[in-house]
Amino acid sequence: MRNNISEILEKIIAKARATAPLAAEGALIPYGGEGDHWRGAPFDGNSWWTGGFWPGLLWLLYSETGDAAFMAEARRVGNLLAEELRTFNLLNHDVGFMYLLSRGADYRLTGDKQARTDCLHAASLLMGRFNPTGFIRAWNEPDRVGYAIIDCMMNLSLLFWASAETGDPRFAKVAKIHADTTLEHFLRLDGSVAHIVEFDPETGAKVREHAGQGYALGSAWSRGQAWGLYGFTLAYANTGAPRYLDAARRVADFFIAHIRPDGLTDCDFAQPPAPERLDNIAGACGACGLLELHKITGDSRYREAAEALVDGLIDRCCDLAPNHCGLLTHCTASYHDDAAGFHTNIVYGDYFLVEALLRLLDRAPALWFSRITRP
Ligand code: GLY
Repeated sequence: MRNNISEILEKIIAKARATAPLAAEGALIPYGGEGDHWRGAPFDGNSWWTGGFWPGLLWLLYSETGDAAFMAEARRVGNLLAEELRTFNLLNHDVGFMYLLSRGADYRLTGDKQARTDCLHAASLLMGRFNPTGFIRAWNEPDRVGYAIIDCMMNLSLLFWASAETGDPRFAKVAKIHADTTLEHFLRLDGSVAHIVEFDPETGAKVREHAGQGYALGSAWSRGQAWGLYGFTLAYANTGAPRYLDAARRVADFFIAHIRPDGLTDCDFAQPPAPERLDNIAGACGACGLLELHKITGDSRYREAAEALVDGLIDRCCDLAPNHCGLLTHCTASYHDDAAGFHTNIVYGDYFLVEALLRLLDRAPALWFSRITRP
């Protein structure tokens, strides 16, 4: 690696000590940083799907430092998210992201019993979204009853964890059925993955694909590729089923073939050359998946690709200024819709970058895994 990871991490920790208190002062769950302040969620208040990444980031930093201030801020937001479980009408399949990284991380790192209960509650809500024809329903709109999306591969970790935690195989069984459906209907011959597939909710038959947050129908939205890469890798890590490892390797090869020479990541691997549209969240998340794949397979290509991604992010798109809120720049929520952010800081980019740094040091807590150990 060109960069000294420990030095970068020290700067990130100092920056978080300076900027984390501003989130509590503003009484919000950070969605992104802008200069000296945090922005809250663009939609759906505290039920917006990204709410777990800020506490997740703080739990990562807590695991590094033992700093009680990080724990307190992570818990402040974890408790706000727990309140959303009561109404739950705006929650969707992303309860995996939301609760595994907040209440789940709390339970794993501190043993807090209420955090465990909240995380199992979230897993039960995710189970409730299962359509027995073979997929987990993504969103709540009445005209999207049959929609499933590649992002959900990441949320399956909540179900694998719940089975290991309770000894009840139902959660993991549902996760495997959904992963098998994703394998069959999302993974393409070239190793790329679709974003949205619509199924007939009565029969489970594939109806059609929809264009999602990428450039066009049939294109390769880079964050979706990262969700698929890391998601199939985690499905393998949590089950040991070789078919998921094979899928992860295929998506990884496709992803690696599209890493830019500067280590940054286009928003869509099939987008036109101009205008430039980057989504560095995809690079940060992709690096985490590649590092886990390297650990599983020992194949050095995955580690080299992850290092190229992380070096590119650190060299060009990391705001390490101690008093600036937000770390990773040039994050894009969606190719065509700027409402949730275009070439800006978005909190899950920061989360995955810090996870990647800790993975490079072999010190990432195992938040996505059904076993309660450090890798
Ligand atoms: N899970 C939604 C997204 O990646 O934007």
